[in-house]
Amino acid sequence: MPTAAQILRTSPPLTDADTPPEMHPHVVAWPWRFEVYHPGLHEVLPAVQAFCSAVIRREPPRRWLSLLGPSGVGKTHVLKQALECLRSAAARGLWKIPTPTGHRGPQMAHLIPAVDLTDFRAARDYAAYDLIYIEDIGSGAALDKGSGAVTRSRVAELLQLRSNRWTLMDANLYRREIEQQLDGRIASRLKRDGSWMVEVPQAVGDYWDR
Ligand SMILES: Nc1ncnc2c1ncn2[C@@H]1O[C@H](COP(=O)(O)OP(=O)(O)OP(=O)(O)O)[C@@H](O)[C@H]1O
Ligand SMILES: [Mg+2]
Repeated sequence: MPTAAQILRTSPPLTDADTPPEMHPHVVAWPWRFEVYHPGLHEVLPAVQAFCSAVIRREPPRRWLSLLGPSGVGKTHVLKQALECLRSAAARGLWKIPTPTGHRGPQMAHLIPAVDLTDFRAARDYAAYDLIYIEDIGSGAALDKGSGAVTRSRVAELLQLRSNRWTLMDANLYRREIEQQLDGRIASRLKRDGSWMVEVPQAVGDYWDR
């Protein structure tokens, strides 16, 4: 058997590309509950953890994370945990927003479009938040008329205003469907500037049927 020293000598040197960016200790210590019961889910939690680490470290640019895919695979389940993890980081003073005179706590919100974006001013108000989670950005996307269409246009308006702002979202739509049914500019922004986008394959079944 080779000794540790021999292994070290024969292994190729690690490059930056091989080394995943280090997670923030608060994110490492957080009690994440996410089961990878199908190989199609293996990218989800690392992406969420990388997003939370970047937020706490205030790594520029401020980016988006989107989880896209079938129902019941844990998208909302894990993004609510991301919000809890970041709320806790803010409460402990690990994540602070600098101001001209010092710093303040971050402003965060979990939005359900059909409920929280009914007022026509809502998109502009939430545009300024430090971090938002928009749950199910595709809700109503298949509907052409009525409240579904209004909700969809408010989501598109809000996302247009959220460039360079920490934003979490999930949807039952893939990127191609977001392009066709919601907004092409938003679809193209999902992966821009190092934003995280995970498309969970259709083959991943509901958690409760696993
Ligand atoms: N990967 C998982 N690990 C642990 N629990 C899970 C997982 N996926 C789903 N669950 C459980 O199933 C419930 C439903 O999942 P969740 O609401 O997150 O699905 P979703 O992907 O957001 O679906 P939808 O697109 O319909 O909103 C969760 O509250 C959780 O109890
Ligand atoms: Mg959900």
